[in-house]
Amino acid sequence: MWSAFFPTAKVVGLDVNEECKDVCADNPNIEIRIADATRAPQPELFDIILDEGSHLSGHIVQSYKTHWPRLKPGGFYIIEDLACTRDRDYGIAALAVYRLPVTKTRMALRSTLMKLFDDELRALDRGQSECEFCHFYQELCIIRKRA
Ligand SMILES: C[S@@+](CC[C@H](N)C(=O)[O-])C[C@H]1O[C@@H](n2cnc3c(N)ncnc32)[C@H](O)[C@@H]1O
Repeated sequence: MWSAFFPTAKVVGLDVNEECKDVCADNPNIEIRIADATRAPQPELFDIILDEGSHLSGHIVQSYKTHWPRLKPGGFYIIEDLACTRDRDYGIAALAVYRLPVTKTRMALRSTLMKLFDDELRALDRGQSECEFCHFYQELCIIRKRA
């Protein structure tokens, strides 16, 4: 899908699951790297970064802190499927699947994500944020880095 949307772009996908390695082998403009996105900053700068990982609040926060510095000025950071962060059953199921070396409680807590948004919005108020805007939709957050 991303290859079709952005045929002239280089698309890099990060996944912890080794089985994803060859999923896009037929798409020359897609490169899949096997890495934990919450702690693996990538060497290049990106125009768009899309978090479509575990959807656990703590992972979203860690991923944001890991990858935000690699977003180009004027670029977009997008967080998908925010509804998962308020779905307790999803959180319990996801914690069972993504056995990463982190405190389970902290990972599931939506307050960690709300604090990130709160910190960014306060910094925006003070004119001290690197963000130009944060737009929220029901399932989606789009954050633009200042050009
Ligand atoms: C909702 S699926 C999305 C799959 C694919 N990106 C897509 O758009 O079709 C979530 C994917 O995130 C991966 N994932 C979960 N936690 C991750 C992490 N910390 N780092 C990298 N990948 C992760 C899972 O292995 C799974 O393939």
